[in-house]
Amino acid sequence: MRLAGECAPMTATHTWGSPAFRPLPVRLAQDGALLEDASMRHPDTLSETPTPKVAEPTATSRRALLRGLGMASVGAAALAAGCARTEAVAAPTPAPAAPAADKSMAIMGANESPFGPSKKAVAAMIEKASMTARYADGEGEELKAQIAKIEGVAPDQVFLANGSAPILSAFGEMISMKGKGQLVTSEATYEGVPRTVKQYEAELIMTPLTADFRIDLDAMLKKVSSKTTATYVCNPNNPTGNMVDPVKLKAFAIEASKTAPCFIDEAYLHLCDDYDANVMTGLIREGHNVVICRTFSKIYGMAGQRLGYGIAQPELARTIAMTTRGGGINHAGIVAAMASISDADFVPTMRPRFKAGRERLFKIAKDLGRPIAADPQASFVFFDVGMPHKDFADKMKAEGVRVVGRTWPGFDTWTRICVGEDWEMDRCEAALKKVLA
Ligand SMILES: Cc1ncc(COP(=O)(O)O)c(C=O)c1O
Repeated sequence: MRLAGECAPMTATHTWGSPAFRPLPVRLAQDGALLEDASMRHPDTLSETPTPKVAEPTATSRRALLRGLGMASVGAAALAAGCARTEAVAAPTPAPAAPAADKSMAIMGANESPFGPSKKAVAAMIEKASMTARYADGEGEELKAQIAKIEGVAPDQVFLANGSAPILSAFGEMISMKGKGQLVTSEATYEGVPRTVKQYEAELIMTPLTADFRIDLDAMLKKVSSKTTATYVCNPNNPTGNMVDPVKLKAFAIEASKTAPCFIDEAYLHLCDDYDANVMTGLIREGHNVVICRTFSKIYGMAGQRLGYGIAQPELARTIAMTTRGGGINHAGIVAAMASISDADFVPTMRPRFKAGRERLFKIAKDLGRPIAADPQASFVFFDVGMPHKDFADKMKAEGVRVVGRTWPGFDTWTRICVGEDWEMDRCEAALKKVLA
């Protein structure tokens, strides 16, 4: 196996070692949701009314707890400890007891984990809370070394970010080259990179899905030219949930990366049935100009905590890291990520829970006779609800189920619903039967 220091020289036309790119101010798009997130909200929650701030909430939502176990408990512990001086902390503050679940709304819209983070991650964040007074450079290097060891690459091929979204936008910014870049990707895919490319007024080429609603790699490859500055493949794809054939993806990435970096977004890869057959880090070990992006937001249940990482050839890794990092990476997230990785049972326990959930959702939609993207492999299903998605979302909300608050160009009557806890799934099933009857 070839490690980073021994990588073959890159054959790509476009290499990246140039100074960091200056971000443009965020602006609203003419055409709706893609650029609507000037408020910095997650795109999947854009059309939802923000929760009003109340002084004394009568009930703490279960999902708020799961989110809050990231920073709220850390924040509480840190505050209790005085935070600024580590020696003031004699013993870790115990985790707060879980409040009763708020079942007023089933939350099935934003591809978060309903099952929460690893208990080891929560314990580690609480234990290390007072360390958040310090920048996390040392721990960041440690996490990078751990990831590098797992992936069989060198630490200088790994870079961290506060979630993977900053990596997607930094990459999009980098390949846009002041409006002259060109991204080749698919329609109905995750918008992190395409959105930034549009924002920077570079060219965006999106090929149609295949007849079975998969990313069409052949069509994408035909669009790659000397003008192309990157390709982007999300696998499993969001929102369709399905995957491309791994042999085809490898061949595509090798060919496309001769021209420009091929970015493979593996945010949901740990959820799929056959991780080993589909993981693409081997391409980086072989020296290809490929970027792999991962996140602790999905199977690891840390969406609110914010920790993502990328793997690339060293020069490109350095450049993306420079564009992404800003003031550094959040300390609690790094600590939680390391604890999550060390929790060997966590992924094997979570994977079947997500699988059972997506299979149940798939069967419900199928039994209702809805056209649906086949073979979902992530935490959600994508199907045609036969009415404008906004009407559908409103009707589901009236039944106590929140689904995604937006749609994808060309799929105006389609929606994406993600796995919830058992009571959420029960309510969703009843609501779907009523709304789609
Ligand atoms: C495919 C994909 N990539 C990246 C992200 C960004 O996730 P995060 O910034 O939480 O890591 C998401 C979020 O939903 C996603 O679906």
